[in-house]
Amino acid sequence: MSDAIGEIKELLLGIRRDLDCMQDLESIRNLITSYARGCDRGNDPELLAPLFSKDATWECAGFGTYHGRETLAAALKGIAGEKIWWSLHYMISPQIEIDPSGASAKAFWYLWESATVPDSDTNEAEPHWIGGTYDAEVVKQDGKWLFRKMVLKLNIASPYAAGWVRQRFPKGNDHQPYFCELEPDSYFWCACGRSKNQPFCDGSHKGTEHRPVELEIDRRQLVVLCGCKRTGTRPFCDGTHLNLKLEKNGG
Ligand code: FES
Repeated sequence: MSDAIGEIKELLLGIRRDLDCMQDLESIRNLITSYARGCDRGNDPELLAPLFSKDATWECAGFGTYHGRETLAAALKGIAGEKIWWSLHYMISPQIEIDPSGASAKAFWYLWESATVPDSDTNEAEPHWIGGTYDAEVVKQDGKWLFRKMVLKLNIASPYAAGWVRQRFPKGNDHQPYFCELEPDSYFWCACGRSKNQPFCDGSHKGTEHRPVELEIDRRQLVVLCGCKRTGTRPFCDGTHLNLKLEKNGG
C-alpha cells in the first residue's frame, strides 16, 4: 500500500514539474510577443523597459551594445526614431531551453520584419525587409520572466524595391556602417575617412596622423564596419553614428 502511495506521489510531482515547465515556456513566449508589440509601437520605452532585468544587455551589430534596462530602452527608442519609422515584427519558431534550476532559460527565435526605413541619402521613407535571429538569456525574478541579454543578428536589411539578391544591406557611407561579407584574409580599415575604397584603406591617410586598422578574418563572415570613423570599437560599428545623427537633429 505504501509503495502505491509513493508511486502516486512521484507521479503527481512529475505532473507538477511538467506543468510548471509548460507555464514557464508559455510565459517566455508571451515575453517575446510583448517585445514584438513594444517594437511595433516605435520601440516604446514604457512597454520595452519592463521586459528586461535591471542589468540587461541588448546588442546588435550596426546598432550598438547597451547595458542596463533604462539605457537600452532609451537607445531602442532612438533607433526607432532614426532608422525604423514603422514596423511589423514577426517573431517566429521560438526554441526555449529552461535551465533545470527553473530560474533561467535560453531562447532563440527568428525575426521577419517589414519596415519603413529612411533612405540614407534622401531621407525619404522606403519599404524594407529585415530578417535575422535573436539569441536571448532569460531570468525569472520575483516570479516574472525577464530578458537579461538579447542579441539580434541581422541577416538581411534590404530595400523592398532592390530585393536582397541585389542589395542585402543598406549601403554604407560616412554616417552609417558598411555590412561586409568577408572571405578569410587580412584587411585594412580606413581610419581617416579619405579612402575612395570605403570602408577599406587605399593609402590616402599618408601625411595625416591616421593609421588604418588591420582586421584578420579567419572564416567567411559578415562584419559591420564603421563608416562614420567615430566608433569606440574600431574597426567595428558600435552605434555611435546614431548619436551623431541625433546631435545633428538637435535630439
Ligand atoms: S558607422 Fe556606426 S559607429 Fe561609425
